[in-house]
Amino acid sequence: MPFPTLDPIPLPAPVWLFKALHIATLSLHFITIYLMVGGLTLAAMWNFRARQDADTPLYDASADIAHRLPVVMTYLVNLGIPPLLFAQVLYGRALYTSSILIGAYWLSVVFLLTGAYYLLYVAARRADQGRAFWWLSLLSLVGVAYIGRIYSTNLTLMLRPEVWLDLYRADALGAQLPTDDPTTLPRFLFMMATSFAVTGAGLLTVAHFSRVKAAVRSLMGRWGGWLAGVGGLLAMGLGFWVHSAQPEIVKASLANHSFYAWSLPGFLVCAALLSLFGFLSLKLPGWIPVVGAAGAGFLATTMAVIARDGIRDLTLLVKGFDVWQQPVVSNWQVVIIFLALFVAGLSVMGWMAYALAKAKGVARHA
Ligand code: HEM
Repeated sequence: MPFPTLDPIPLPAPVWLFKALHIATLSLHFITIYLMVGGLTLAAMWNFRARQDADTPLYDASADIAHRLPVVMTYLVNLGIPPLLFAQVLYGRALYTSSILIGAYWLSVVFLLTGAYYLLYVAARRADQGRAFWWLSLLSLVGVAYIGRIYSTNLTLMLRPEVWLDLYRADALGAQLPTDDPTTLPRFLFMMATSFAVTGAGLLTVAHFSRVKAAVRSLMGRWGGWLAGVGGLLAMGLGFWVHSAQPEIVKASLANHSFYAWSLPGFLVCAALLSLFGFLSLKLPGWIPVVGAAGAGFLATTMAVIARDGIRDLTLLVKGFDVWQQPVVSNWQVVIIFLALFVAGLSVMGWMAYALAKAKGVARHA
């Protein structure tokens, strides 16, 4: 078997608990990725169109987003760490191996992230001054998308033990990013395209609940409705593509699994609802379509994370790695303290996110 030998230290909590925490925290990480990718795209586009005139609602909307993105990035990073720890605990033998095989790219994430993050602050400062910043958002978007590409490559490479040895022989320093896996591109494009749908729901929320200028809110509401509507349909199409790109044996195992069989239909229903609420918001004023779109966006993301989890577990199972078969010696005292701190931490983050969504925006300096 190509998997490295099992770590002799048993898991400190049951596999189901790690999996539940992984799915919960990864869903939150994915939402922030979606808001970052969608937000950067809109900030760049809107600011490009309003670059000559800072006294327009379009410029103000681009500036509003530019101000929110550094905060979104703090969430993105902090909500990426917990699922990384849980994934390492559960799938370390596969995930460490694939990370080492693309080591140079994997480590470059830190530098790409620092650069993309820095650009967010520079863009926000220029937005304060009423100056154009679209190219900064665009550059940051390129960096962020490239990080996503590296993640998609690593998380699909961890499912292919059959190619590991050849890759190691080809480049032991890890300066390679394989492109021959037919499942990688659909997964990456799925992540990027779903961003528009979820960002649409985010825009609707800001338009409805924040205290930014009325003209900006109306612009965001219109864009939000269209993005959620069209983006939801796009996400459904790409979800199908991700599924159909899987090997036949994985598709068959997914269809016969009592839990994972529901994840793809569940995702499609939630994405369809997101689309429906998006279009509805263009016709129906009030909070119902807004809350509906936000709820459907959240559920669609969770369903996508569960479907992805199924693809991973059932692919690895075919190749001889059963995530459920690991020695466990639960330390419940530590688990309870961890859970209490986890819930407290999430509540504080939720409260901060609420304050961010309600923020009025920053006054512009001359
Ligand atoms: C701008 C920065 C980032 C972007 C654009 C990004 C993007 C992505 C994407 C696209 C995926 C899904 C890949 C796939 O399944 O095809 C992913 C998964 C993940 N990301 Fe991020 N990510 C970023 C930063 C981070 C950071 C800083 C961490 C942790 C410190 C992190 C942790 C994770 C984890 C743990 C997963 C899933 C692992 C699993 O399969 O269990 N991400 N990320």
